[in-house]
Amino acid sequence: MRVALGVGGGIAAYKAAELARALMERGCSVQAILTAAAQHFITPLTFAALTQRKVITSLFPANSAEEIYSSSIDHIRLAQETDILVVAPATADLLARFAQGLASDFLTAFHLAFPGPVVLSPAMNTNMWLHPATQANIQLLRSRQLLRSRGYHIIPPDEGLLACGTTGAGRLPDPIRIAQHVIDIGHPRRDLDGETMLITAGPTQESLDPVRFISNRSSGKMGYSLAEAAIARGAKVVLVSGPVPLAAPPEAELIRVRTALEMRDAVLANLPCSTVIIKSAAVADYHLENVPDQKVKKTAMRMSIELSPTPDILAEVGRQKGDRLLIGFAAETQNLVAEARRKLETKNCDMVVANLVSQQGIGFESEENEVMLVMRSGDTVKLDKAPKRRIADGILDHVLKLGLALRETH
Ligand code: PMT
Repeated sequence: MRVALGVGGGIAAYKAAELARALMERGCSVQAILTAAAQHFITPLTFAALTQRKVITSLFPANSAEEIYSSSIDHIRLAQETDILVVAPATADLLARFAQGLASDFLTAFHLAFPGPVVLSPAMNTNMWLHPATQANIQLLRSRQLLRSRGYHIIPPDEGLLACGTTGAGRLPDPIRIAQHVIDIGHPRRDLDGETMLITAGPTQESLDPVRFISNRSSGKMGYSLAEAAIARGAKVVLVSGPVPLAAPPEAELIRVRTALEMRDAVLANLPCSTVIIKSAAVADYHLENVPDQKVKKTAMRMSIELSPTPDILAEVGRQKGDRLLIGFAAETQNLVAEARRKLETKNCDMVVANLVSQQGIGFESEENEVMLVMRSGDTVKLDKAPKRRIADGILDHVLKLGLALRETH
């Protein structure tokens, strides 16, 4: 696939180099286009080395001996030689110029000349992102989805600590996630068309008093990757998410919850309309039943707290699932397959995705995972260490196989 990678002038521009590499690793050819502002943050040489191509830095050659691109018609020619345009980071200024159809530099002129799909990954300060002008430009671009032959795809920014020191929405998502998005759009697989997937993600938080809670290290990356992959493959997704700073795919129906009880209610309410349930959330196993109204004061005394078990949502869904597919997860520190098999049988799952969370670099919080799929048939399948988005596709491949097998027996 031939990708034009537009890089805007923001602090996240350095991550565009990782994106270029991730796209190359996935078999794309990459033509980098740097705006003048981007060149204050990162040099063309970085992209030239990574992509093995000259980098486009201006609409007009600086002098007649300019080698980089020598003709003002080149944005037209490149438009004919490109399958997809991805812009990361898409700054507030670029979004405004795209929305208004300006053509004041190579990237904006190319954008107008290019009739194919455009992936925009905005990243900026939270106030700039939330500013009504930026939001209006996003809406305007989204509304053009139907007018352009193949549309705009906007990857919402993640939340977190930003380079400017503030915390909020505005972070560029992980470059591997952006790369996978580009691949999904370029090579759409619609093998999950017609499925409605109910996916749980992230941790739950169980209050101890108005300011304290018990939780765990789940970042939501595994569950959100599953949601992204399922949507890319044509499924409708209901994403029940504990508190995480990730941006949900705009196409997902997002239900935010905080506690295990809230997650249970949301899952059971959405069970009737779903065909597949994937329980990747790390639900707290215990909670405090009667949470005090006031903050518990510190004293010099030792303290113990009596906790009660939270509802076992997986087991409850297992009892009510009918002919839906139920995929559980198992986060283990030992006896991976045996524990997963026990969960598979006691909770009536069709498959359990087991991960060894004591291992460095996989499981909780990491960008990658390595899992063992434990099947009802007795088979196990290992998915080797890979970005969570790729693991998600591997899990969905097996969900699809199980679904086909189930339908054949009916
Ligand atoms: O979110 P990330 O940082 O990307 O990390 C991913 C992950 C490690 C959280 C994920 O891969 C994972 O393993 N999720 C399941 C975590 C977990 O709670 O495992 P468990 O073995 O304790 O629970 C087994 C299953 O029962 C899970 O499907 C869980 O959702 C479910 N459960 C658990 C407790 C409870 N009260 N109700 C449940 O439904």
